[in-house]
Amino acid sequence: MAQDKNNIRLTDKQSIPRVVAAMTAAEKVSLVTGMGLKIEGLPPGLLPPGDPKDDDIPEKVPGAAGRTHAIPRLGIPTIILSDGPAGIRINPYRNSDSTKPYFATGFPVATLLASSWDTALVTQIGKAMGKEALEYGIDVILGPGMNLQRNPLGGRNFEYYSEDPLLTGHMAAAMVRGVQSTGVGTSIKHFAANNQEFNRMQLNTIVSQRALRELYLRGFQLAVKHGQPWTVMSSYNKINGVYTSENPVLLKRILRDEWKFKGTVITDWFGGTNPAQQLNAWNNLLMPGFYAQSQALLGALQDGSLSAQTLDANVAAILQLVVQSPVFKKYKYSDKPDLSASAAIVRRAAAESMVLLKNDSALPITAPGKIALFGVTSYKLIAGGTGSGDVNKAYVTDLDKAMLQGGYVLDAGLQTEYGRYITEKTAQLPKSPSLFSTPPPIPEQQPDSEAISRLAKYMDVAIITIGRNAGEGSDRNIENDFLLREDERTMLKVISEAFHANNKKVVVVLNIGGVIETASWRQYADAILLAWQPGQEGGSSIADVISGNINPSGRLAASFPMQYTDVPSSAGFPGKELPGGSNNGNPMMGKPSEVQYTEDIYVGYRGYTTNNIATAFPFGYGLSYTNFTYSRPRVTSAPGVAPIRVAVTVTNSGNRPGREVVQLYVSAPAIKQGRPVRELKAFAKTGILPPGGKETVQLTLGMSDLAWFDEARMAWVVTPGTYKLEIGANAEMVITSTEYKIGKEMMLEKNLAAL
Ligand code: BGC
Repeated sequence: MAQDKNNIRLTDKQSIPRVVAAMTAAEKVSLVTGMGLKIEGLPPGLLPPGDPKDDDIPEKVPGAAGRTHAIPRLGIPTIILSDGPAGIRINPYRNSDSTKPYFATGFPVATLLASSWDTALVTQIGKAMGKEALEYGIDVILGPGMNLQRNPLGGRNFEYYSEDPLLTGHMAAAMVRGVQSTGVGTSIKHFAANNQEFNRMQLNTIVSQRALRELYLRGFQLAVKHGQPWTVMSSYNKINGVYTSENPVLLKRILRDEWKFKGTVITDWFGGTNPAQQLNAWNNLLMPGFYAQSQALLGALQDGSLSAQTLDANVAAILQLVVQSPVFKKYKYSDKPDLSASAAIVRRAAAESMVLLKNDSALPITAPGKIALFGVTSYKLIAGGTGSGDVNKAYVTDLDKAMLQGGYVLDAGLQTEYGRYITEKTAQLPKSPSLFSTPPPIPEQQPDSEAISRLAKYMDVAIITIGRNAGEGSDRNIENDFLLREDERTMLKVISEAFHANNKKVVVVLNIGGVIETASWRQYADAILLAWQPGQEGGSSIADVISGNINPSGRLAASFPMQYTDVPSSAGFPGKELPGGSNNGNPMMGKPSEVQYTEDIYVGYRGYTTNNIATAFPFGYGLSYTNFTYSRPRVTSAPGVAPIRVAVTVTNSGNRPGREVVQLYVSAPAIKQGRPVRELKAFAKTGILPPGGKETVQLTLGMSDLAWFDEARMAWVVTPGTYKLEIGANAEMVITSTEYKIGKEMMLEKNLAAL
């Protein structure tokens, strides 16, 4: 029976072709260009104007990053997209509603979550985040962020997981599965090779096909395979000369044809320059969408640079996203998420995932110890980074309050003094900073040596917190950021000397979002706890580790180098501006620039181990309050057939309950093109093992885990020879290993697309 032309509605997936056929060209271009971004604090005129018709459409979720256009006559609702990786970023206050605030949970940053090496935990966090989004009427979370931490100065590293693609890919997949189990979508970002902030909208990343395949695309490939995200966000940068959002090789041949991605691709906000080319490249949705784009698309339809079929295919991809969304399914959101349930998960997740870097019998400290608490961030914790990865949370639990709560005794004079000092300095900070500015740090007070000597006599332990913040829009500096500031060095030295003179221990807590230099000052500390930016319950999480209520089981997801010049990418970071380029009067655009990834595949531990460069703390490193021993690993599958199964038994040989992270590295036979000394290829985490308790962990490798990417043949190749399967305490220390032989060369996939 012919359908009534006036009665065509989007009802389900099957209805999409009919709906597309019923749409006008103007409706189609409105759907592929989003709407609704309002950034507070940006100078007027900086953003291109939206469609004037949009001005009258009321905001549904104020502060969300954007939404799509509704087409009511066809039953197409608006879907809401909101940041981001550490929790929902929306406005906490609404003019239309003075009855309540709209806070969201500040979850731990991605780097801390990756340090858990615990995919089940990350899925649980994702579930909590997804439920919050659902209850606030949000359809897609703009996260997780999953670019590789190529260089410690990357301004958004806190939003990303690791320097390693395998850990990154599995963490992102775990997060995606958690969020999407609630019926809310995700957007894995920023695809791809967007590893820094410098001139990010006009940056050309020059990188080899091998490094792309083995590192920069690999994590995304794993996340697509194991997480099936609803959307992928293309990045701002170009790869080898072409904007990612305008590159059909990346978005069609690799993402869709090779990896079988079935979802929708959206641009990063204002990414790319040619809307028709973006649709031709299968970047379906242009965000946040502005008037000039929709006009350009109508023009492109006229002049033939965009075909009607291509526009229809992009429209269909967006409708496919719409039909999955909570709003389409008429979910009745409450605006009342269960924030206290999330807080409990956040507290435990952060504590478990912190990394104990050093411990000369200083930790744990049983309450009621007398603690002298130093450092501005002991009293004003940094829960997460800035920019779109920030969250408007109801509160942050500071360490001083949490220590008191935990039954410790603090020096009240010190607490009052810090309180006064921080209030005074905070009042001098800019009132409403823009989205892209990180507030300057509050310097540490010059220590009064006499007062500190007095404290060292009657307090039991000194705890000193060092804090760092960063975020979107700029990278970090070496001076006063990667390196400690002079005021921080003086504080550490004076306090440590006074406490050590009285045979008292000194504990340093690192409340940081990215890697810093530690080798020059670590001798001042008896213990170093890497708390990262632990989310809104951070003080309590740190206190839980200090007390030993939680035995930390985090391991580094990024190497801590001895010095910046040791970093494999340090020489060319962050690249250079090209001569004669301009930002066309828009400071947000930055100037045309280029960065060359000359370290190629030797990023992070792949570089340090292969070039024999010592690190301060290697990738995979982390201590526990207990110890573990390992059996030899056994290959339990038949020789030469995938999957390769490896079993290893872990025993808690210490005297406290604890969890161990089992890291399986592969050391491959040498080839003339070169291979890293070893690469992480599988990992697992034990449950809580009581003293003497054992667990046999099963790890699985595919043939692809033995393969390298051969540019000459554009193929994944498994070279014949003997592979060492190594159980590592970290990337530099093998505990035990076994061998695996490959008889003849295997080519797993060939003639793959080149970028
Ligand atoms: C960021 C994205 C973010 C988007 C929307 C961009 O500036 O790069 O990560 O999702 O803004 O806020």
